[in-house]
Amino acid sequence: MPTKQELLDFLAPFDQTHLLRFWDELTPERQQSFAEQLKAVNWQKVTAWAKDAAAGNGPDIPFDKLVPAQYVSLNPSTDDERTRLQQATAHGVELLKAGKVAGFTVAGGQGTRLGYDAPKGTYPVSELQHKSLFQLFAESILRNQQKYGCVIPWYIMTSKINDQATRQFFADNHYFGLDPKNVMLFAQGTLPAIDPDGHALLADRDSLALSPNGHGGSFAALLDSGALDDMERRGVTILSYWQVDNPLIKTMDPLFIGLHDLTGSDMSSRALIKRDPLEKLGHFCLLDGKLVIVEYSDMPNDLLQRKDPDGKLTFRAGSPAMHVISRDFIRHVATGNAGFTPHVAHKKVPYINEQGELVKPDAPNAIKLEFFLFDALPLAHSPLILEASRDEQFAPVKNAQGDDSPDSCRAALNARAHKWLAQAGITAPADTIIELSPRSFVDAQDVAERRELFADLKPGTSRYFE
Ligand code: UTP
Repeated sequence: MPTKQELLDFLAPFDQTHLLRFWDELTPERQQSFAEQLKAVNWQKVTAWAKDAAAGNGPDIPFDKLVPAQYVSLNPSTDDERTRLQQATAHGVELLKAGKVAGFTVAGGQGTRLGYDAPKGTYPVSELQHKSLFQLFAESILRNQQKYGCVIPWYIMTSKINDQATRQFFADNHYFGLDPKNVMLFAQGTLPAIDPDGHALLADRDSLALSPNGHGGSFAALLDSGALDDMERRGVTILSYWQVDNPLIKTMDPLFIGLHDLTGSDMSSRALIKRDPLEKLGHFCLLDGKLVIVEYSDMPNDLLQRKDPDGKLTFRAGSPAMHVISRDFIRHVATGNAGFTPHVAHKKVPYINEQGELVKPDAPNAIKLEFFLFDALPLAHSPLILEASRDEQFAPVKNAQGDDSPDSCRAALNARAHKWLAQAGITAPADTIIELSPRSFVDAQDVAERRELFADLKPGTSRYFE
């Protein structure tokens, strides 16, 4: 174990010696683990990032050079385009059948806006059965395994804060019928919270206030956890990526997967066509020929509002954070020197003050640093963008109430069930609440194949189908 003086010398160049304030009170064991924690941080980088953030140095984007990125429309206008989409779907089915595809869910966030006191994936979101987000994804994977006669490994990134509770939840629920050996959980890395003076905060006398390092931490976490090696052993070459908060996700989308592969793309994205200029989605743009996502909050108003001659928003392709990513690209990024720069959020972070008392601030008191997954896009070859269908695929649970809340998400799940029934020629009374189990229904075709189940839907009733 390093001596106190060695640690002081290590921290002094970064003005972090206050972290050893309580050192002499600690037992040798606690000193040991705290020393390891301190040594694991790249203080040079962290303090430089925090300094930039405190100086208000946001991303330096030459807005005059931004052009909207092209995307593949879901409504092809030519026969060639139609054929291409059909071929892509068939190719995606082949890839799934051959066991080349795995699922990857990022579930390491803290879900502060939802204000739910457990890992967000355990949130009981479904209307009638109160199934959790994790259960809905697990059942969708089960159905896809059945559909394509394959094994679909599922990788789940947690954080050090919620890893144990997440594992317990899966164990308590017997992995919702999945084989535990095909479900791999691993925790992402952390970064220290920094106060406005550039000092790291203590969560306790012997530990830093650390928070998960953002969904962009997933590249390193997939490598460090051995998940990439596991994929390689299994012959998986493609990851279908989704966030834990969107139960409408088509976990395995043959069209998206197939188009990604046929295009030779390293990292592909779905795009939502923005409903209005102020909708808070990142924008797919090209900058010097590279695909970038410019966050809503960074985009100047004139670009948000700009319209094409046909009246459509010029920057209309927004990102709902759905991707298909090639395994080799993940390894390339994770082992390379690309060096992502974290994004900055001002948050309320509980800490131990100089007297050793716990302070729970009621206003933001610290900078949190987070890597974003989409910062890998400029590194990707042939990055494909495919339009997504909003009512079929996207209704995230972010807030406790209002937009993007459990209520709006339940309404979207119900509306999608009605839509799938209508596509199968079944008229359900508009006020019927329908919950479809993803164990049996992951698309409209699944509904059509079991049409007889839906024969006697009565107005004003609630029905669950599995
Ligand atoms: P959000 O940006 O919505 O953040 O994450 P959050 O932490 O879940 O929620 P708030 O902002 O505190 O309310 C989008 C997705 O990225 C994952 C989340 O779990 C979610 O699936 N994520 C986010 C991580 O896996 N790790 C992180 O460090 C941050």
